[in-house]
Formats: sequence, structure tokens, C-alpha cells
Amino acid sequence: MSAPIYLDSHATTFVDPRVLQDMLPFLREQCGNPSNPEHYHGGMARDAVERSRQSIAACLGCSEPEDILFTCGTTEANNLALIGGYLQNGNPRAHFISSVIEHASVLAPLNYLQGLGAEVTWVPVDGEGRVNPDDIRSALRPDTLMVSIMAANNEIGTLQPLEEIGAICRSTKVLFHCDAAQFVGHEPLAVDAVQVDLLTFSAHKFYGPKGVGALYRRTRPERVPLQPILHGGGQEGGLRSGTLNVAGIVGMATALRIATEEMAEENRRLSTMAAEILDRLKQNRPDLRLNGSARYKLSRNMSLTIPGVDSMALIQLLKDRISFSAGSACATAKTDPSHVLRAIGLSDEECYQTIRLGLGRDISATEVAEILAAGIAAAPVFVD
Ligand SMILES: Cc1ncc(COP(=O)(O)O)c(C=O)c1O
Repeated sequence: MSAPIYLDSHATTFVDPRVLQDMLPFLREQCGNPSNPEHYHGGMARDAVERSRQSIAACLGCSEPEDILFTCGTTEANNLALIGGYLQNGNPRAHFISSVIEHASVLAPLNYLQGLGAEVTWVPVDGEGRVNPDDIRSALRPDTLMVSIMAANNEIGTLQPLEEIGAICRSTKVLFHCDAAQFVGHEPLAVDAVQVDLLTFSAHKFYGPKGVGALYRRTRPERVPLQPILHGGGQEGGLRSGTLNVAGIVGMATALRIATEEMAEENRRLSTMAAEILDRLKQNRPDLRLNGSARYKLSRNMSLTIPGVDSMALIQLLKDRISFSAGSACATAKTDPSHVLRAIGLSDEECYQTIRLGLGRDISATEVAEILAAGIAAAPVFVD
């Protein structure tokens, strides 16, 4: 039996063979530690890391490679941005503004900081999952330290008005942090144009390896002030101690270069595929609803509410044919309905009738649509 079709690309992606090829020497003979550049192996590792830093910066429209700090992923980078910014600021009651649909790796550090005395204003989203920049403007206070708004939502794929939020923050001298885990490598980005101060991402969301990511931290005209949250050997300018994941960093650079070069074509293909799947499913189920925004959306995202169908039962029914999730992968261990779907107005019952497809490479839309249509027709009816 062939493996099921993979449709969970928001959770993670496979490593592109071209990425693996570039990583292999650094998993084998090029074993040096970039913190020991005085000898051949360490020097080769350091050069590879610095070349990768330059390449990643160029892909993100960032003129200063030193603005890219390597971490083990977005979770760590979000913690460093939020907690590190708070520690450096020194006001225990510092004020943050964030949205109700952020990922757990932003919600949890902010909740943690609230426990230390920080104050957080949570702005709502509309029925498509968009933040209104005016809500951010109205929430600003003299003691606001940072605004933290994600670039693209991991459940419903909605894109946020980053330029407008960046302009508000810059004009009021408030830091703008953006979790761009679902965005980088999938949508064009020029950090200078967005006027973002801190931005985070993970390689495994764009066909790179797991366990490596980065924090973009603006250093010009002045350095965004942060304190480290990991203490040790002082790597990454003292902000992120720990031996660098050289193979992972090299892989992330190749993955981002490829994703940037192929982005326009890939997004055209994914949008066509999503439209084809939706058309086919609607033939049998005209009541099926696509969540999120039609206009401001990740091409690969399909969040579908299928009235009467238990999403977990559907996943089980089809698990030999396709792999997809209910809500977000990070939330599936929980029984609570998704906070994102609730925030855009779905009832608890509708949340449990919602699936998330993450389209990706090597997928046939016709095959996916046929398998899903048959599964939906055969799925047990949802019982509250
Ligand atoms: C929007 C968003 N932020 C942060 C993360 C965390 O990324 P990582 O697990 O690579 O740290 C994810 C992963 O699902 C995500 O989708």
C-alpha cells in the first residue's frame, strides 16, 4: 500500500532533496564548530554559517546580515523577542498589544509575562480573522513596549495588514514583533518595507529541516534592545548561547532561496489546486464553508467547516489515504475548541466540524478531492 497523501503542510513539510544535498557535508566530514574558527574545520563551519546568514538576509529584504540570529525555531525566537524585550525594558508592568488568534508560542510567553506583572491588551479579529489596525492604534498607551501580531495564521491562513501595523508602531516608537512562521518562504517579504523590528520563522515550514529557525532583530538605525533568555557560551552576539546547528542553518538558507525563487509559480499552482478541490467538494456538499479571507490568504490553506461531519472521525476514516488535521497540529492534543475558529465566530459545534488542509508539493488535486468527497459522504454524523 502506498503512503497516504500528505496534506498537513502548516504543521511541517518534507526536506527538499536539494536542501538535503547541501546539508550532507555538514552532517558528515564538515563537523567543525563555528565557535572555533582558528582551525580548518571550525573555519569552514563559520564560513558556511555566515554565508547562510547573508543569503537568508537577502531573501528577506534585510540589508544587515547581522540582524539574523539563529535559534532552534520560531518558538524559541518568539520567547526571545517577547521575554528578552521585557527583561531589557525593565518596567515590570510594561504593556503589550497582541491578537486573540496568535500561536501558543506567543500566547504562552505573554501569559507568563502577565504573571510577572506585564499587561496585555488582546485585540479582536473580524470574521475573516483580520486585525483592524485602528484597534491597535486605540490600544496604544504611553507605556506600550511591543505590539506582537502574526503575519499569517496557522489554522485559517489569514494574512495580516503588516505594513499598516508597522507604520503605526514606527511612528509611535513602539516595537513591532511578528511571528512569521507560516509566512516566510510562502509570501514575499521585505523586512525594511514592513517596518518590523523583530520577526521569527522556522525552516521546517518551507521544506527545510526541523529544529532550526531565526529571529530577525533590527540593528539600524539603532539596535532593538533585548536580553538573552539562554545563558552560556555567548554565541550570536551574546543573545543566543549554544552551539549552532550548522547543517540546519545551511539547509534553512537553501530552502529559503529555493522557496523565494519558486514562490510565485508555487502560489499560482496551490491556488488553482485549492479552487479545484473546493469546487469538487461543493458539488456534493454546497453547505461546506471555507474559513478565513478569500483575498488575504495563504495559497496552501483550506480551513473547511463541513456541517454534520465530526472532523476527528473523518481523519480516522481517511487516515490510510490522506494525512490532514482538525484545527492546528499544536492544538490536536487538546479537547478545547480552537481559539482561532472561536475568535472568527464559529460555535463550538462548528469548530469540531472543521478540518484544515495544508496543500503542498507532489499532490494531485483531483485525487485529493475524490478521496475527501467519498470520506465526507461516508463519515459518521457529528453528535454533540
Ligand atoms: C504561527 C506559528 N508560530 C509558531 C510556530 C512554532 O514553530 P516551531 O514549532 O518551529 O517552533 C508554529 C508552528 O506550528 C506556527 O504555525
